[in-house]
Amino acid sequence: MCGIIGVAGKTEAVPVLLDGLEKLEYRGYDSAGIAVISKEGKLQVKKSKGRLCVLRERLRDENAPDGMIGIGHTRWATHGEPNDANAHPHLGQQGKIAVVHNGIIENYMEIKKSLLRKGITFCSDTDTEVVVQLLEYYYEKCKNLMDAVYAVLGRIKGAYAMGILCCDYPGQMIAVRQDAPLLIGCGKLGSYLASDVTALLAHTRTVAYMEDGEVAVLTPDSVQFFDRDRSPIEKETHTIKWDVAAAEKGGYSHFMLKEIMEQPEAIRKTVSPRIAGGEICLEELEAAPELIKTVCKIYIVACGSAYHVGMIGKYALEKLLRLPVEACLASEFRYSEPLLDEHTLVIVISQSGETLDSMAALREAKKQGAKVLSIVNVMGSSIARESDVVLYTWAGPEIAVATTKAYTTQMVLLFMLGVYMSKQLGHMDHEEYRTLVEEFSQLPDRAAEVLKDPDEYQKAAFGYFNHNSVFFIGRNIDYALGLEGSLKLKEISYIHSESYAAGELKHGTISLIEPGTLVVALATYAPLIEKSVSNIVEVKARGADVIALSTGETADKIKGQVSQLFVVPKVHPLLQPVLGVIPLQLFAYYVALNRGCDIDKPRNLAKSVTVE
Ligand code: M6R
Repeated sequence: MCGIIGVAGKTEAVPVLLDGLEKLEYRGYDSAGIAVISKEGKLQVKKSKGRLCVLRERLRDENAPDGMIGIGHTRWATHGEPNDANAHPHLGQQGKIAVVHNGIIENYMEIKKSLLRKGITFCSDTDTEVVVQLLEYYYEKCKNLMDAVYAVLGRIKGAYAMGILCCDYPGQMIAVRQDAPLLIGCGKLGSYLASDVTALLAHTRTVAYMEDGEVAVLTPDSVQFFDRDRSPIEKETHTIKWDVAAAEKGGYSHFMLKEIMEQPEAIRKTVSPRIAGGEICLEELEAAPELIKTVCKIYIVACGSAYHVGMIGKYALEKLLRLPVEACLASEFRYSEPLLDEHTLVIVISQSGETLDSMAALREAKKQGAKVLSIVNVMGSSIARESDVVLYTWAGPEIAVATTKAYTTQMVLLFMLGVYMSKQLGHMDHEEYRTLVEEFSQLPDRAAEVLKDPDEYQKAAFGYFNHNSVFFIGRNIDYALGLEGSLKLKEISYIHSESYAAGELKHGTISLIEPGTLVVALATYAPLIEKSVSNIVEVKARGADVIALSTGETADKIKGQVSQLFVVPKVHPLLQPVLGVIPLQLFAYYVALNRGCDIDKPRNLAKSVTVE
């Protein structure tokens, strides 16, 4: 949720912090702030409610702090409203220690009460201020920063990635992690901490991923790591291959539009390295053949759009594997006492690889002896590291809060996995396998065809952006696709929208259809086209204005029934939703544009959801 950055460097810290925060702003944008240790050894803090641009402006008007060691934060509010006082960094009451924090301290109230009894006064409503006050309290007693840090870690419960500065230690910065993403970068001009690698790409490509319970001490020339018992540890470093330009807008007005347009290339990156000699090669699975051979039941567990991939995956994988497949919301799965054992395969899907609910579901699955395979975009993320097998989507950095290319590539990779497993289990005949492999290879070109004329969606959006409520309907895979179309629209345009299995409408929801209600009817699934047409006719009879999505194959049956028809190329039915989602993404994008919404940073949302 929040983003944190820190630098112990050999150049001025403020530009590094602001550039890093810009890359992290997608994680939360309720407020932003920085703290820098000045050359005189003083902690200087600047923070403001609102977007990073407000802080930038303040720093232009007032004197920007000077110094080479600093921490920064961009906030997604949990405890306390978004205002200046609740913005990070937070200081202890002596002003000696500053902290930035991503996560939630669950026992903050109990600690706060005990500190209040000791006469410590608080200036914010946040859980983070409790940490820094406690830290300063211990520090005043023991006069050793690391002793104080470990004493605090022994008291606090919850999730945290934190950057800590103390003006008595002007040459160092401390990083701690528990259940929240944090990585350390080592560069020529200094050492860095960040919630996400995109904030570091301009300075270094050499990173180490912090694990739960670890503490790091960063200076401009060195990084030392310690475990939860304070023993020094060696950590492996990794080289990041992502291109800096991949995390820039590259001439597009929004990251979302750029990422929609990047889908053909992203799909190519997911598919091409995994097809050789007419075969799907999932090297990652070759080392674990028992994972496929022994599986009796599959759960696909994820949140938001990744869960919608799971919904589509349920339909597809059940057909391909003849095994029971359930798609579960990660936040429900972990508390639903799922029946798992060593014959259960749990597939966790996550773009960020850091979503807390998905992470918790993964851990629950492993605890119960299930095998975990994850489909993840961000290399080295927590979910990737804790899975038995990880398949990376290789879609490149996704910055817009509304996911697009991650969703399509997750879907493609899940289908590839399904086809691969189906062949291994002997359920797929040779001819169909050959056709599918061929169609996977051609999918990037088919996606490019859908994107050839975005004007069509722009024009349609212009006619509909004033609606207050939109219903998506569809059957089978189209129903699952509608869930994503509806989420895309509501999250960026703030139009109320719901998605229904078309056959379910008449059991209640059809009472909401009145003259002028906008219904988006998804009708790409050929086997049920007649039924879908009946549902379109039913809502039309109640006065609905209908936009439909079809393929070249189903279009004739729908034309004439609807006000607007989007047609995508016909591909193998399994792959159809990969193309079907693109018009829905573009429609949502242009509707939001017409409504003047902040598309890349929709209200109340954050890209990476690292709280429960
Ligand atoms: O990083 P993840 O894929 O685990 O994120 C899951 C959801 O938070 C995410 O898909 C969310 O629903 C998107 N904002 C939807 O566009």
